[in-house]
Amino acid sequence: MSSYLVLGASRGIGLEFVNTLSKKADNKVFAVVRTPESATQLHSLASKRSNVFTVKGDLDFVESLKAAATEVAGHTGGKLDVLILNGVRMASQYAGLTLDKFPDPQTLEEDLVAGFRSNTVGAAHAINAFLPLLRAGAKKQILAITSCVGDIDFVRGTEVGTNTAYTASKAALNMVATQFAVALKPEGFTVLSISPGYVNTFTEDPNDFASIPEPVKQLTATFKKVAPGFDGNPRTPAVAVSMVLDVLNRSGPEQSGSFLSQYGNKEWV
Ligand SMILES: NC(=O)c1ccc[n+]([C@@H]2O[C@H](COP(=O)([O-])OP(=O)(O)OC[C@H]3O[C@@H](n4cnc5c(N)ncnc54)[C@H](OP(=O)(O)O)[C@@H]3O)[C@@H](O)[C@H]2O)c1
Repeated sequence: MSSYLVLGASRGIGLEFVNTLSKKADNKVFAVVRTPESATQLHSLASKRSNVFTVKGDLDFVESLKAAATEVAGHTGGKLDVLILNGVRMASQYAGLTLDKFPDPQTLEEDLVAGFRSNTVGAAHAINAFLPLLRAGAKKQILAITSCVGDIDFVRGTEVGTNTAYTASKAALNMVATQFAVALKPEGFTVLSISPGYVNTFTEDPNDFASIPEPVKQLTATFKKVAPGFDGNPRTPAVAVSMVLDVLNRSGPEQSGSFLSQYGNKEWV
């Protein structure tokens, strides 16, 4: 039996982590969401799987993460094997602007700080909140779901200079994960940042690539500049999650601190 916690599990890739991991009946999967009452897809899954536990927790509020850790500890005897940090503040109303086009310095600061707070600081708080449980667990794995747009060479190649609150906070998340990896190395932890690649979380039917919003298609078309063989299509969450878990399962403390793609290397698309 292994215990997993997926932080940011109401929909998209996070929900798919819960679905995939809870298919194994002897896994315990804790799905942390900021508003359990509106997480309808998760409720529907949890109603069919007795090994899925819904817990309230928000990356923006450290006290809620500590409360979530206390609740999980009550179910597991104080242990957790794997922490998956998936939740994200993806975009804001300023996502389409390059840094030189923001209306004023205060708006720029607020947008960057909001991204950093959820995606970077929130991840650090979450790791610290669950660390006592992870230390008592058998696997000692921490997985930060990051993005290829947190890779400097990828962004240089695609030449997309927008949505900095997201890209910069993911680049910083990668470093936070590496810093935890260094700090926890003597204890045998494996801490990884893994990008899932381009994943269709934009349409109700994950196989309906045709209905992906045009701005997403335009953005991802730039991926061809760094990956000429890219066909323009995303993966489904199910395929992406299986690839990411495969990388995690193949990794150990010797890989700890790495920032990897869904292939386990630096091939991002
Ligand atoms: N989709 C892609 O192509 C792609 C590519 C690269 C990387 N990723 C990464 O994969 C992860 C999942 O992406 P996705 O496409 O599945 O995103 P998504 O569909 O937008 O889902 C985002 C999830 O994060 C949760 N969340 C937002 N703010 C939160 C907070 N403050 N505290 C806790 N949870 C919060 C959301 O919960 P609510 O329902 O409460 O809003 C939701 O469950 C992210 O880390 C993203 O950066 C995705």
